[in-house]
Amino acid sequence: MSSVTPDEFIDYLKRSALLAPREIDAASVEIRRAVPKALDDATRLASEFVKRGLLTEWHVRQLLKRKYKGFTLGRYRVLGRLGTGGMSSVYLAEHDITKRREAIKVLPKPKAEGEYLKRFHREAQALASLSSPYIVDGYGADERDGVHFVAMEYFDSLNLRQLVEKLAENGEALPYEDAASYIRQAALGLQHAHERGLVHRDVKPENVLVNERKEVKIIDFGLALFVGSSVTPGSEKRILGTADYLAPEQTVDSHNLDARADLYGLGATLYFCLVGRPPFPNGSVPERLLAHRRKEPTSVFAERLDAWNDLLQICAKLMAKNPDDRFQTAAEVVDATERCLVRHGFATPFDFGRRDADFANLGDGDLGVDVEGLFLSSDAASKLLGADKLDVPDGAEVLSSKRLSADDDTFLKSMGF
Ligand SMILES: Nc1ncnc2c1ncn2[C@@H]1O[C@H](COP(=O)(O)OP(=O)(O)O)[C@@H](O)[C@H]1O
Ligand SMILES: [Mg+2]
Repeated sequence: MSSVTPDEFIDYLKRSALLAPREIDAASVEIRRAVPKALDDATRLASEFVKRGLLTEWHVRQLLKRKYKGFTLGRYRVLGRLGTGGMSSVYLAEHDITKRREAIKVLPKPKAEGEYLKRFHREAQALASLSSPYIVDGYGADERDGVHFVAMEYFDSLNLRQLVEKLAENGEALPYEDAASYIRQAALGLQHAHERGLVHRDVKPENVLVNERKEVKIIDFGLALFVGSSVTPGSEKRILGTADYLAPEQTVDSHNLDARADLYGLGATLYFCLVGRPPFPNGSVPERLLAHRRKEPTSVFAERLDAWNDLLQICAKLMAKNPDDRFQTAAEVVDATERCLVRHGFATPFDFGRRDADFANLGDGDLGVDVEGLFLSSDAASKLLGADKLDVPDGAEVLSSKRLSADDDTFLKSMGF
């Protein structure tokens, strides 16, 4: 039962301008005819509007809380809230002409001035300068009645933090192949931004989105910096990203840093994906910042005995304290994660358009299948071949081969099978 009466609900609905008065009247008549009882209770009445596709659950929740403002923004009809970050709220909204569903990032009115507004506009400019399947598309920026907003591609997804926390609730951890694939895709997005002179500066699980098809897009260029741009130190109020993912060099000077700071953030994000918490979760903000400069995170092996050694090496290299010891470019991270996925049998070189013979070479001492220089673990090889069992190491005989895709077939031929 709601404390709002059915009449009040209809009144708030009218005031909200979500529906035209005649739409409300027509729906009310129809509901009275079909489910007369719904008229006794505002919650039931509201749910009938939802059933008919006239309102969203979110609309109803707001209206039943007597909130009826802010459902339209210029040409947009707001359908629900997607998330809230440090600076802003992001809504799902439908454009009234194109009917496209977009994500609308709104700057709260009290912040719509000075440095905040400048930064907000820089985010829109950053998005507009980028075009990558691994970064959400920007559609533009606008203002209505003092409310500033940025419109961007809606990506039906969870952020990495939500995803990992959801798994943890079910007692599960993110599979290594998923972690490797997400980091690879995020690195592809970062590579694109870096090549255009943009450093993201706030790479963290909340800013990496993943959909059900395991596709990744980077969001939130709110702190992004064009390398060499003349932002004067001190003019930025929120200099830092979250303390939990910040590169050591970024804690000292957040302006004179380069793309390698994003790679540190990516490493800390990978660490989060593997164990479900940031590398240095304890202590005050200064203590945690110091930890990024001085301490080593607890080994992932302490919690996940079967962790992939090569993936942990990627993580450690990304999180090297000294930028010179890290991967030097996002492209190198893409390469390393692709090798890792191939080595463990979760992809073929062809998935990545790679043909180099030593693409997935294993380390010394690994037992595996060595064909024409491509050295795979027997596990990996049998996964690639779709075989139940594989005889190693003599000639990599396939004992029972399942159906192969065209790509696998070419791959095998090239390997001399
Ligand atoms: N384009 C989008 N599509 C879907 N969800 C989004 C989109 N942009 C943001 N979100 C959601 O909103 C949250 C906050 O967005 P973000 O841009 O990071 O805001 P902030 O700058 O305030 O941190 C994200 O973590 C994500 O859950
Ligand atoms: Mg964010």
